[in-house]
Amino acid sequence: MTSLLQLLTEKTQNAFEANDLDSNLGTVRVSDRPDLAQFQCNGAMAAAKQAGKNPRAIAADIVSKLEKNEIFEKLEIAGPGFININVKPEILYKYALKSLEVNLGVGNIGKGAKVIFDYGGPNVAKAMHVGHLRSAIIGESLKRAYNFAGYDAIGDIHLGDWGTQMGMVISELEIRHPDWPYFRENQTDFPKDSPITLQDLEEIYPAASAACKQNEDRLEQARQATVELQNGRPGYRALWQHMVDVSIEAIKANYEKLNVHFELWNGEASVHDLISPMVKKLKEDNLAVASDGALVMHVARDDDSKEIPPLILYKKDGAVMYGTTDLATLLEREKYFQPEKVTYVVDKRQNLHFEQVFRAAKASNITPGKTDLTFIGYGTMNGTDGKPFKTREGGVMKLEDLIKTSHEKALQKMSEANITGKFDEKQTNDIAHKVSIAAIKFADLQNHPNSDYIFDLDRMTSFEGKTGPYLLYQTVRINSLLEKADSDGIQSHNNALPNEALELQEIELLLHITQFPENSLGVVKSNSPHILADYLYKLAQNFSSFYSNCHIMSEKNTQRRQFRLMLCQMTRAQMIAGLGILGIDVPEKM
Ligand code: ARG
Repeated sequence: MTSLLQLLTEKTQNAFEANDLDSNLGTVRVSDRPDLAQFQCNGAMAAAKQAGKNPRAIAADIVSKLEKNEIFEKLEIAGPGFININVKPEILYKYALKSLEVNLGVGNIGKGAKVIFDYGGPNVAKAMHVGHLRSAIIGESLKRAYNFAGYDAIGDIHLGDWGTQMGMVISELEIRHPDWPYFRENQTDFPKDSPITLQDLEEIYPAASAACKQNEDRLEQARQATVELQNGRPGYRALWQHMVDVSIEAIKANYEKLNVHFELWNGEASVHDLISPMVKKLKEDNLAVASDGALVMHVARDDDSKEIPPLILYKKDGAVMYGTTDLATLLEREKYFQPEKVTYVVDKRQNLHFEQVFRAAKASNITPGKTDLTFIGYGTMNGTDGKPFKTREGGVMKLEDLIKTSHEKALQKMSEANITGKFDEKQTNDIAHKVSIAAIKFADLQNHPNSDYIFDLDRMTSFEGKTGPYLLYQTVRINSLLEKADSDGIQSHNNALPNEALELQEIELLLHITQFPENSLGVVKSNSPHILADYLYKLAQNFSSFYSNCHIMSEKNTQRRQFRLMLCQMTRAQMIAGLGILGIDVPEKM
């Protein structure tokens, strides 16, 4: 990619270098006072300090080098030595036009490099809840941003299907139904149909979990069942498979609603067969050692500022742990994909776990030194009271219920905004669905993943302010405008730049439009979609002030009208692509 900003930076850096100054100081950025200048470079002050010279004199030297270049319209020195830069409108226009190309000028920095995103983590037998929401939203968006930038990014759901919760449910079923064939000794064939439904599981898991909390013997029973399951007891495995199948159906439906898609549907259990040879090798290399009857890997370092406990591979009772399956999963990923990068999007409270796993993976060369392992820990989703989001009764809200509630809220807001009247029920529901998902996702993605944020359904479903629905509304408005222009036979075309001076709102919008590439790549570079979320919000605002100040369809001057229609097209293209990267679909009409 060479964006306009890159081009300007390159030219200014060359000018610094030609004056024997540190070229790194030649960075150009977009001015925050577009009425005074489009871009600015503030490096002259630091360069003057280094060279022991007057900053305005340095700035003058730079400007005189830059002036030879015909892309500039105006170069000015302000204050102590700020360089204000305006480029010619045709240059802005040329770069803005890239937003009508397939990849919107973003280019291909990924060059097909494989990146795996691990951003699911729902647990079999447990209902999905709001705790799974941020991982899905952020992970999906990052994956899309990487793909947009030319990486080959794939998502792995990494189901939690091998932990103690499985043993809890299996032992609970054994207590309730000791006569089931799954619990008979020496039985090897089992009924095809699941003896349990999703509704059963929703009742059984909490009951089993509560029982285990109250009673140590009951917990021991669950642990024993977990070990036996992992060791391959046929009846347990058969029952386990039913639970996985039943749960996956519900999990798929939830992710489908969220417009979140995984390329790989692996789980902790998928790597079970890799564990024993992996551990054997770790033992041979003296990396896995016995400790209190368990088998562990020491991963602490002398210079650690906090205590890093060992990674447990096998518990005393022989069960494998959360870290064991994560380590084996890295082994599997290396075997099949040799990724350049593996990125985990998980609750930040799991930071230590991933520190342990990453260290173990690197120390054992399970993940080669050159492969990047990244943990993106997200913060808590709080309620309007500032405390972790809960149901009215104080419990954890099921994801399904959250989606339903948001849908209803979206319908209500749509009716308040007079959007519902024009459509039949199916269309209305389809729009409400898109509005609610846009609301939920945009409310999350406008924050840095690391920070907590407040889930305020009323605010985030509003059609005003920094919300998903506002962006959808603006985009749909441009859509209908362009459709109208089309049916009126008004064409837009590439050479529509007017001969007369541009209005401030036109320049502002045009200038903003040239910055799509660095802002979508900003998501990749910072691993945070909020950069693009901010960009799109400002795009909508710029568009809005352009729209209220400049006539479009009623503009008499044909060329000007065409130019304005081009601005509409560019804005629409960026909105749709940008929202797409955030995982947000735009309705056709609204
Ligand atoms: N199942 C886990 C949980 O509910 C999250 C999994 C995150 N991914 C991973 N590779 N460990 O906490």
